[in-house]
Amino acid sequence: TLPTHVKLVEVGPRDGLQNEKETVPAEAKIELVERLVDAGLTNVEAASFVSPKWVPQMATSGEVMDRIRRRPGVVYSALTPNMKGLEAALAARADEVVIFGSASEAFSQRNINCSIAASIERFREVARAAKAHSIRLRGSISCSFGCPYQGEVAPEDVADVVRRLRDLGCDEIDIADTIGTGTPAKVQAVYETVAQDYPLARLSGHFHDTYGQALVNIYAALQLGVSIFHSSVAGLGGCPYAKGATGNVATEDVLYMLDGLGIHTGVDLEKVVEAGQFISRQLGRAGSSQAGNALAAK
Ligand code: HMG
Ligand code: MG
Repeated sequence: TLPTHVKLVEVGPRDGLQNEKETVPAEAKIELVERLVDAGLTNVEAASFVSPKWVPQMATSGEVMDRIRRRPGVVYSALTPNMKGLEAALAARADEVVIFGSASEAFSQRNINCSIAASIERFREVARAAKAHSIRLRGSISCSFGCPYQGEVAPEDVADVVRRLRDLGCDEIDIADTIGTGTPAKVQAVYETVAQDYPLARLSGHFHDTYGQALVNIYAALQLGVSIFHSSVAGLGGCPYAKGATGNVATEDVLYMLDGLGIHTGVDLEKVVEAGQFISRQLGRAGSSQAGNALAAK
């Protein structure tokens, strides 16, 4: 049986926009976040406190967090790879911080410039500080279904990182398909493996749609009882350290499917479509959500 409720985590303002070549003005990011919250999204990844040399697009994260009109009950989260990031997130009053590692050694090196083991040591300090400030701590695991550099990734390698993030005190753990190569059987194998070490109710699915598999992978995860999913308005995004990776699954597409399945999210699809139209206008191109484009054309 499928879950009756799903928590959607909107990652468009972060995962979506981090990959844009042209600078997106802070103004536009702020309006995007506010529109998404207006649509009923209660979890929005709005910032990333990483090196501006590595990801220039996220350099305005402090300003964005500072100027968003905060809505009570909404969790505004920020990526924090190290203590410098954590300190910036504290100053920005983030409600949740995200430590992001990888199930693949090669990707860990390319994305955060250290081994998996070294990343866990870095995260230990970040986790301790987050706990000391009573901030929610989320862990993210890239390349859980495949890696652009090493190819196959074994479910046991994902489980290994899940256990380490669990031991750091993560309140939630994201199983991420960075390059979108996963298919439903693989998705089920990975969740069945990792759920032996961590509660399924606190595992999420973060699917990129590069191979057009994201929705069916979400459906496969729903069948196992996974009830937290990440998505990106207008299907924005990609990862600067995963060449050719396209955006996250589009929020509009996920909502259209969940609405059809009678699964409650509290999110208004029409308003998300409008937010998608807004950011697509800003970027000067059509959005890549099929449901979003179909509904906008009506
Ligand atoms: P490093 O070069 O090893 O770090 O980078 P460092 O400590 O040696 O510092 C080098 C320079 O960066 C120094 O500046 C630091 O001050 C600065 P300099 O002295 O040269 O002027 N620096 C920082 N500046 C601002 N904020 C910080 C920070 N840390 C250091 N937090 C580091 C290590 C992790 C910082 C770097 O590799 C980095 O920023 N990587 C970011 C990669 C990234 O953002 N990737 C995209 C997000 S992850 C993702 O999209 C995947 C996900 O969606 C899930 C999925 O789909 O797989 C989450
Ligand atoms: Mg991602």
